[in-house]
Parts: sequence; structure tokens; C-alpha cells
Amino acid sequence: MPEKKLEELPGVGPATAEKLRDAGYTDLMSIAVESPKTLAEVCEIGESTAVKIIAAAKQAADVGGFETGDQVLERRKNIHKLTSCSKAFDELMGGGFESQAIAEFYGEFGSGKTQICFQLAVNATMPEEKGGLGGEVVVIDTENTFRPERIVQMATALDLDPIETLQKIHVARAFNSHHQMLLVEKATELARDKPVKLMVVDSLTAHFRAEYIGRGALAERQQSLNKHMHDLLRFADLNNSVIAVTNQVAAKPDAFFGDPTRPIGGHIVGHTATFRIYLRKSKGGKRIARLIDSPNLPEAEVVITISEEGVRD
Ligand code: GTP
Ligand code: MG
Repeated sequence: MPEKKLEELPGVGPATAEKLRDAGYTDLMSIAVESPKTLAEVCEIGESTAVKIIAAAKQAADVGGFETGDQVLERRKNIHKLTSCSKAFDELMGGGFESQAIAEFYGEFGSGKTQICFQLAVNATMPEEKGGLGGEVVVIDTENTFRPERIVQMATALDLDPIETLQKIHVARAFNSHHQMLLVEKATELARDKPVKLMVVDSLTAHFRAEYIGRGALAERQQSLNKHMHDLLRFADLNNSVIAVTNQVAAKPDAFFGDPTRPIGGHIVGHTATFRIYLRKSKGGKRIARLIDSPNLPEAEVVITISEEGVRD
């Protein structure tokens, strides 16, 4: 069923619809889950109008509909698993990285977060028989660390055409956290034409951390991060895609999280990510990947290597 247009909501004329779209509310779900106060402020409408618009959006977007267990099982039958090129790592993840889920890689600088994302990007373009997703990739790059040269090396090592591989990877720099969130919407548009089977957000938290400083900003930061995570999860569900995000650990005691091995973003990121993988450096280019949190897999760790060819056992 095609989704209703914003203009079809009662109380939304062309001018209000434009304000909504400008503020990033391009679909009904984003309006349905917004608070009346925020919507009223952002769109310069009365709060009572906002309440009505939200109520109508909730109805139209079918928020909070229940699925029976067998329907969930049916949906989960469509889950694809993406290989990492390490057999041990795939086994740790229950056979590969699942679609319709967010995998969060966290660890200190140089622990391999970005390299693993490159590898997943290359692999997602491979056909399913080879452990890929036969799809295309969106990379939201917040730290300017995307390196096509590494993609070429990793693709070549797998006997893939490096240029064809690069043509399937769509990269955008995110200049701030707002832009980063907007790019998920752009990706949703892109996914209408291209089979986007993997979305990488590297780094998920760096902009948020830099922009929302001090204890007073914590609530706001967590709210924005929460929305971002749910946008990502929604993208994963809609497109049957894998989402891979990276997260730093606080190198020195953070104002919010004292423990230096704790990932940024606290509970919000932790509870929304479906799988959390803690990466740490080991001897001789080796890395230890530990699965910290998963709905159906045991906590365990494996050793992987990162070399010129990419991620391997
Ligand atoms: P931050 O983004 O700084 O937090 O780190 P990260 O976890 O993203 O680190 P990244 O994935 O960029 O890992 C960098 C490390 O990967 C380097 O220090 C190297 O050890 C390894 N690496 C990157 N490229 C190559 C390569 O071409 N050959 C080899 N052998 N190792 C590489
Ligand atoms: Mg990195």
C-alpha cells in the first residue's frame, strides 16, 4: 500500500507540508513518533494542531501494530547473512552479519573498525552464493576515512572487478550530526532505485560527541542519537539491509562515562544495536573481536587478522 502523502493529513496544507519536509519530516512515521512540542516549535504551528497532525500520522502509519509470532518468524526467514571473510568471525555472529539488524563495532583507535566496514562493503556487493548480499552499499563517512584504494585492494584480493565494486559503493561525507541524520533519509531515497543491502555509519557517535558538550547537553544528545538509531533500524527493516556502525571508546575518562573501555552513547546505542562487537588490538596485526551483546548468541571472542587483503581468519 503506498504511503499517504503529508498533504493528506488533516490540518496539513501545502505550506505546513513544506515546513515539515524542510525540518526533515518526510514520512508519516517520523511525524507519528515526534512529540507535539517539538513538532509545533520546528514547524511554527500551534501545539494543538501538532497533536492532531501526530494523531493522524499515527493512524496512517500504523504505529505500534502487533505482529503474531509466526509473522515475525516469516519476516525473519528473509534475513540474509553477510560474510566478513573470516570464518571464525562469521561463526561468532551465527553465520555472518544479519540483515534487519545493527552491528556496532567499538574499540580504540586503530582497532580495526573502519577496516572491517570496508571489508563488509566489498563483500555486500558479492553474490549471495559467495556470502555476499548481491547489493549496493551506502557509506556515511563522518571522519573522512573512506579510502577507495583500500576497497580496490580488498576487491582485487577476492577476484572482484575493483571498479565495478567501487561503483556499487555510495559514499557521503557527513559534516555534522544533523547532516548525518539527513543522509539516512537520502539513503532511503537512493534505496528506491538501488538494492542498498548494507549501510555503514563510520563513526556513529563522533559528531554527537563533539557537538553536545557538557552534562546539560546529555539528554538532548541521547535523544538525537536515539532517533538516529531508530532511523537506521527502520532502514534495515524496510530494505532487508545490514547496518554496520562504529563507535569509539572514551580514551580518557569521559565526563559521562568514567570507564575508558565503555563505548560512547551509553544505553541508547547499546540497547538499539542488535549486536555489539568489542575490538581490541593484539600482537602482529591480529585483532580480538568479542561479541558483547546479542539477542540469541553467546558472548564469545575470536581472533582475526587485518592485512593488505583485508579481514581474514
Ligand atoms: P579509529 O577510526 O581511529 O578509531 O580507528 P579504527 O578502529 O577505525 O581503525 P582502522 O580500522 O582504520 O584500523 C587501522 C589499522 O588497520 C592500521 O593501524 C593497520 O594496523 C591496519 N591496516 C590498515 N590498512 C592496512 C593495510 O593496507 N595493510 C595492513 N597490513 N594493515 C592495514
Ligand atoms: Mg576508523
